[in-house]
Amino acid sequence: MLEVSDITAGYGNSTVLTGVSLSIERSEAVTVLGANGAGKSTLIQAIAGLTPIRSGEIRFEGERINGLSAARIVRRGLVLCPEGRHLFPQMSVRENLMLGAYSRKAGRSAIAAQIDEVLDIFPALKEKRTVYAGSLSGGEQQMVAIGRALMAKPRLLLLDEPSLGLAPLLVQTVMRVVGEINQRGIAIGLVEQNAAAALELASRGYVLETGAMVIQGSARELSTDDRVRAAYLGVVEQTAD
Ligand SMILES: Nc1ncnc2c1ncn2[C@@H]1O[C@H](COP(=O)(O)OP(=O)(O)OP(=O)(O)O)[C@@H](O)[C@H]1O
Ligand SMILES: [Mg+2]
Repeated sequence: MLEVSDITAGYGNSTVLTGVSLSIERSEAVTVLGANGAGKSTLIQAIAGLTPIRSGEIRFEGERINGLSAARIVRRGLVLCPEGRHLFPQMSVRENLMLGAYSRKAGRSAIAAQIDEVLDIFPALKEKRTVYAGSLSGGEQQMVAIGRALMAKPRLLLLDEPSLGLAPLLVQTVMRVVGEINQRGIAIGLVEQNAAAALELASRGYVLETGAMVIQGSARELSTDDRVRAAYLGVVEQTAD
């Protein structure tokens, strides 16, 4: 479904991504793990058309998408839920959700139906749909951000660190919701520092280190990989003596 081949990207004179490749199959949930500053957001933004690539190619459903505007990429069904939520705090939950549908040429009734569908996935937001987004808790705001991305009807949803800044219990809730979205047949590309939570959700993963893919494998392989365990799962290997 998504094929990222050997891409290079950066800002000004600095190169952030070098020769990065990855793929996501239809309906699959894939994670990209990486520490602070590894280039995770740069990668996910390059896929979504928000950061230009310097070389390589990005194909979505068989067609080249690098070079297309972010809005056109959204219309093709590839949607990014960005890091840091970026809600409009003085607008209601419902109004924030509606913004996610702006690129679709859908009528009022289609959009209202889509809002109902999204609120079914987030029952906690249903009763809060008329309150200011800024008055919600961090976890609820993350749900609105994901809901807004769903309003664009993605077939592939990219999520940039949805667990960032959330208490452990809320991390679980957010990941469960992302799992439910995946169950509905929407492919997931999840970028995370929280490796434990991400590997529970995804079936496959990659590790990005200083802008290069250094490890890839099934979630099981990654969670038993010594390097992943030491660097991302905080497991200290026991030495027998
Ligand atoms: N707009 C920008 N202009 C210049 N440099 C940038 C810009 N955005 C990111 N960078 C640099 O690119 C590198 C990778 O940043 P990026 O945000 O992609 O990493 P990340 O893995 O998402 O990190 P984090 O876990 O902190 O979100 C960093 O060195 C960062 O300082
Ligand atoms: Mg980031």
